Amino acid sequence: MEDEVSVDVLLKENRVFAPPKELIKNSNVKNWMNKHNIKTYDELLLKAKDIEWFWGEVSKDVVEWFKPYDKVLDWNLPWAKWFIGAKYNIVHDALDKHVENWRKNKIAYIFVGEPGDTRKLSFRDLYVEVNKLANALKGLGVRKGDKVGIYLPMIPELPISMLACAKIGAIHSVVFSGFSSKAFRERVNDAEAKVVITCDGFYRRGKIIHLKKQMDEALEWAPSVKSLIIYRRTGHEVQWNEARDHWWHEITAYQPNHCKTEVLDANDPLYLLYTSGTTGKPKGIIHAHGGYAVGTALTLKWVFDIKASDIWWCAADIGWVTGHSYIVYAPLILGATSIIYEGSPDYPKPDRWWSIIEKYGVTVFYTSPTAIRMHMRYGEGWAKRHDLNSIRLLGTVGEPINPEAWMWYYNNIGSERCQIMDTWWQTETGTFVIAPLPLISLKPGSVTKPLPGFEADVYNTKGEKVSQEGGDLIISKPWPAMLRGLYKNPKKYMNYYWNKYPNVYLAGDIARKDKDGYFWIQGRADDVLKVSGHRIGNSEVESALVSHKLVVEAVVIGKPHEVKGESIVAYVVLKEDVEASDNLRIELIEHVVKEIGKIVRPEELWFVKDVPKTRSGKIMRRVIRAVALNKSTGDISTLRNPEAVEEIRKAK
Ligand code: WT7
Repeated sequence: MEDEVSVDVLLKENRVFAPPKELIKNSNVKNWMNKHNIKTYDELLLKAKDIEWFWGEVSKDVVEWFKPYDKVLDWNLPWAKWFIGAKYNIVHDALDKHVENWRKNKIAYIFVGEPGDTRKLSFRDLYVEVNKLANALKGLGVRKGDKVGIYLPMIPELPISMLACAKIGAIHSVVFSGFSSKAFRERVNDAEAKVVITCDGFYRRGKIIHLKKQMDEALEWAPSVKSLIIYRRTGHEVQWNEARDHWWHEITAYQPNHCKTEVLDANDPLYLLYTSGTTGKPKGIIHAHGGYAVGTALTLKWVFDIKASDIWWCAADIGWVTGHSYIVYAPLILGATSIIYEGSPDYPKPDRWWSIIEKYGVTVFYTSPTAIRMHMRYGEGWAKRHDLNSIRLLGTVGEPINPEAWMWYYNNIGSERCQIMDTWWQTETGTFVIAPLPLISLKPGSVTKPLPGFEADVYNTKGEKVSQEGGDLIISKPWPAMLRGLYKNPKKYMNYYWNKYPNVYLAGDIARKDKDGYFWIQGRADDVLKVSGHRIGNSEVESALVSHKLVVEAVVIGKPHEVKGESIVAYVVLKEDVEASDNLRIELIEHVVKEIGKIVRPEELWFVKDVPKTRSGKIMRRVIRAVALNKSTGDISTLRNPEAVEEIRKAK
């Protein structure tokens, strides 16, 4: 392992990691450039500035329309339509076309259960499962445009459920299985799902998580939900509601192997995915079939250079956008073989991931900085026990990667020969936006440059382009996989993303560009936390705390954490006469877990008498964070209650 001194030296020298010649020569992107007589990376970026030409041209390589489009883009800020006039369904590219070609019996998914059970599903197997479930959904009355809520862990039935919905034109809304029943209920009610899909339970760190039980709690108040489908994963006893519940194996048992793929408009919605913003309620991001298919497939094909022979492992959870785009849709469209692993990365031992890579000969591996730091802490000895030579490319996503973690990953997992694709993107963008191609030299900690067909920049508060000094990260042209709005909230869509500067999309991140035009992401600009790469609004955790009967007020900040990136620190004001105690502290922490889920468990929770506020009563998170992190608070004389700053200072 590189020690800190050598990482320092490396950064001082501004060492760059040039891609191996063989990688460039054989890459999908280079192959495309050759066909289009484009010689260099810069020339590619320049040509792709004509986004309509570019996306029209690349779409030919990745998707098949039922009816071709008349026009590539219709841009009426903030509303984009892509591939106008095209008739399409993403399931045609993800499944149907493969069962008509040589891929029919190729493995689509290698599933590894946490207890060690495995299943391999060919494209044909997946096709049959999807069609049976699609027919069952139709039988339950699900029609085009209806919403289906999905609460499933990392088992093949999760992609199967998503594809079955998409096939019949229904809109899926997947909720991460680590979210609480309350969080699921909130999302399912907002989406007004008609049918929901779950399983009895799943395995996590050797224990069974009782998902059906959580679902039953969630559905205690979910008036739109008429039916529940339950896949049997663990086989333990579950409560049963005769009027509502159906076993997956029973409802699909006698369904035909074929189900018509609904012919949709390319701009029809494919799914909703809820994500956190600065307000207490999560927002439903809308993605559409056509542009999303082109965007996800092209970016995976070029950035991770996926070929027919690759074994691709995106070790994220399908409950987040990373999994939607790069475990489900893009790899299936490309006809790739992917790994789906159910459990914890370090169970039963810290080398679980490395043993899976060795066993299945994984060639391209994609994970998060937080996971890398966790493995770093266990030590490289665990990776050294395994032959990881099958790996040819690596990647990361979710938060800025510190150069130490980058070097560790490069040396110990990539054996000092694999490029690391650090991909910047968001639930809203649907695809990578700023990321390396196999053509570009890497600098540890930089996401390099916007991909061809994307235009991103950094603005100062006046809306001028800046470089070194840093500012707001913006995207200045529409892109095919961009969000198509916020569910039920068009006004908020405009205000949240398109209002700060004229004509550009506001990402919510702070970034800077170096002299070579490389982007360095520095973190969120708004009140959004990144805990182990998971996005969570400060205000969501605060609302959860305030919903407890003994709490009057709560403030949540993020504190740098060695492994998680950020950890949650909460300051809580209790009702008068309520005694602060360690038991109450534990109760409140558990209350947050129950309200939202384990991923947001506060690391610290302090009782204070008051929290710093402005004269108008706005809580000053910025000041609280500065005090908590021993930084300068700036002028606090304008606060209504400067003495509350002392309260925060004492709480350590
Ligand atoms: C936020 C989006 C996109 C899939 C996972 C997260 C941060 C994402 C990077 C990266 C630095 C990154 C940003 C962004 N982020 N990738 N490579 N380097 N920061 O999706 O939950 O929508 O979060 O994650 O802050 O805004 P998400």
